[in-house]
Amino acid sequence: MGPPPRTEVVAIDGPSGAGKSTVAREVASRLGYVYLDTGAMYRAVTLHFVRRGVDLRDGPAVRRALDEIEIDLEEEGRISLNGEDVTREIRSGKVTSRVSQASALPAVRRKMVALQRAIAKRARGVVAEGRDTTTVVFPEASAKFYLDASLSERARRRTSDFLAEGEAVALDEVEEEMAVRDRSDSSRKTSPLRRAEDAIAIDTTETPAWAVVQRVLDEVERRRRTATAAPRPVKRGSSSQGRSRKGR
Ligand code: DC
Repeated sequence: MGPPPRTEVVAIDGPSGAGKSTVAREVASRLGYVYLDTGAMYRAVTLHFVRRGVDLRDGPAVRRALDEIEIDLEEEGRISLNGEDVTREIRSGKVTSRVSQASALPAVRRKMVALQRAIAKRARGVVAEGRDTTTVVFPEASAKFYLDASLSERARRRTSDFLAEGEAVALDEVEEEMAVRDRSDSSRKTSPLRRAEDAIAIDTTETPAWAVVQRVLDEVERRRRTATAAPRPVKRGSSSQGRSRKGR
């Protein structure tokens, strides 16, 4: 059998700390696909705004700053902003505290979504993760997942990530900041975080990452088999009914 005719997209959404990055990175590596960390891209844009001192309420200033930005995803999940490796700096507190506000701006989202689709177009396959990859960026993805976990478990994971990087932060502070960011990511007007109807929900609170990875890989494989099986006949009359409904 030949290669798939188009890029295969596996899309994973969910709130922070649900395990998306660990799972998406591993699934991408197992499939030999590009790992598309959309959150890192929003963080890089935010870093640029912070450095330039851009007032996010100033539309023209935001657009000017956006025009200056070039973002590239490098090997092993590294990210560069105008040629500079900013992989570490985008995780800093000053970026984390502003990223929700910056990523809610429609102009920012337009630019990032276009870039994400362009990256996917050039690749054989991508594993995309974020808040809107299943709903807005790649609604046609071949497999969609929504990862979630309890707030306390997500905060615990984030706190140990910080610790691994040598930063000691209080669990309750992380939990509080996460709750605020969750609310803002889910309630914004443009592309809020929500579970796509056709996304498979996985609660990772008590499931180890390797088991989630396996579940995703199994599902991708199952979808491939279904897609290559003979197409089911279309119900007679359904397309004209569909058209007339849409036309109303
Ligand atoms: O996954 P993360 O914590 O690195 O994401 C950082 C922020 O970026 C998060 O608060 C919401 C935003 N984001 C977004 O709005 N849309 C995406 N597809 C990914 C992230």
